[in-house]
Parts: sequence; C-alpha cells; structure tokens
Amino acid sequence: MPVRINPSILAADFANFERELGRISTADLVHVDIMDNHFVPNLTFGLAMTERLQELSAIPLDVHLMIDDPDRWAPGYAELGAYSVTFHAEAAKDAVSLARTLRDIGARAGIAIKPGTPVEPFLELLPEFDQVLVMTVEPGFGGQSFIESTMPKLGLLREAVTKTGLDVWLQVDGGITADTIVIAAEAGADTFVAGSSVFRGEPAEQIATLRAAATAHAH
Ligand code: DX5
Ligand code: ZN
Repeated sequence: MPVRINPSILAADFANFERELGRISTADLVHVDIMDNHFVPNLTFGLAMTERLQELSAIPLDVHLMIDDPDRWAPGYAELGAYSVTFHAEAAKDAVSLARTLRDIGARAGIAIKPGTPVEPFLELLPEFDQVLVMTVEPGFGGQSFIESTMPKLGLLREAVTKTGLDVWLQVDGGITADTIVIAAEAGADTFVAGSSVFRGEPAEQIATLRAAATAHAH
C-alpha cells in the first residue's frame, strides 16, 4: 500500500514559508494546521495565509481545521484549491452535509477525531469521506508525545476500509517519529503527519527515513 508523508508547517519557520516549502519538496502533501483559539487553545493562520501557501507550494495542501463552526469556514479552503480539507467531528454541526459540500467543490473531504472521541459512529459513514484523521495527541500544539492508546481506532478503520474497498486515507497526526510511525503503520495508518520530527533535522532526510519505516510496516 502506498504511504503518504505530510510535513506540518506548524513546525516550520513562519517568517520563511517559501524557503521551508522548498525543503519538503519530496513530501506528498503539506499539512496546514488552522487553529482558532476556540476549538483549541492556540492560534495560527486562516484563509488569506493558506491562499498564499497554495500559490507557493509545489505539492498539494492537506488542510487540518482545528476550529469551531467548520460548517461555515471549511468550504472556503476547498474553494482556494486545497487538495484535502479535514474538519473535526467534535466541532461540525452536520459532518455528512459538510463533507458533501467539500467534495462538490472538488476537494477530498476529511473528518478528524480527538484522542477521546470514539470511532465507531463513523465506521458506517466511511463512504462520505476521503480521509479519517485519528489524532494521536490532543490537538493544539506541535511537539507532544504520541498517545498509543489511540491505535485500536486505526485497527477498526483499516478493517472497515478493507471490507468496503473504499479509497479512504487513514491519517495520524501528533508525535510521529521514526519510531512511532512503525506503530501507527502496523495499526493500519497510511498517511502520516509529522511536524517537529521533519523540521528539527534535515527535512529531506527525515522524510525519507519516515517513508522507509512506514512502507516497511504498512498493511
Ligand atoms: C497538532 C497539529 C499537528 C502538529 C503535529 O494539533 O494538528 O499537525 O503540527 O506536530 P508534531 O509532529 O510535532 O507532533
Ligand atoms: Zn494537524
């Protein structure tokens, strides 16, 4: 199975996005963390900055919305050309209707769940989504430790995706390193977000290391 490595620019130098994007050109997508200081206790950037990133980036954008009222804001990210737009189940009023709107605009539609949110209610809704993001840290900050107790959710998702034959990507985000990526790949993930582990060192080397480890252990 192909794996995807998506560096999170939350860990990049915010004053040099153009240069930072150039350092991750071997990645599959660039993960853009949108935080509103309400859904999570941290604030990053919004539509205008993402529009500029879309213009600058050679690889597609994987937008992760950690915001209240995604029903109102998510379509704008699809409209500016983001390849994938993921919103949180805990924040959406009508997740299925929002996912349909995102697909109609032309984006892949993703749904994210926090570590404490059960996955079971979403298993039967899989045809409505192109990606499920299982958060492996509490959303809000980079540099936290991987929460391994989230892994059974990936097992359930992988089983359901295999059974249905759908093209739903299973993403993990938070605390992904060359060690924890093995655990997540074995559990069933195929799409890996990594912030600090990519930008801390030499990004091209880190991406290659993560890709090799995930590929060796993917389903
Ligand atoms: C956390 C964000 C993550 C974050 C991951 O709320 O959603 O995407 O950038 O950072 P690391 O890889 O450092 O845990
Ligand atoms: Zn994220």
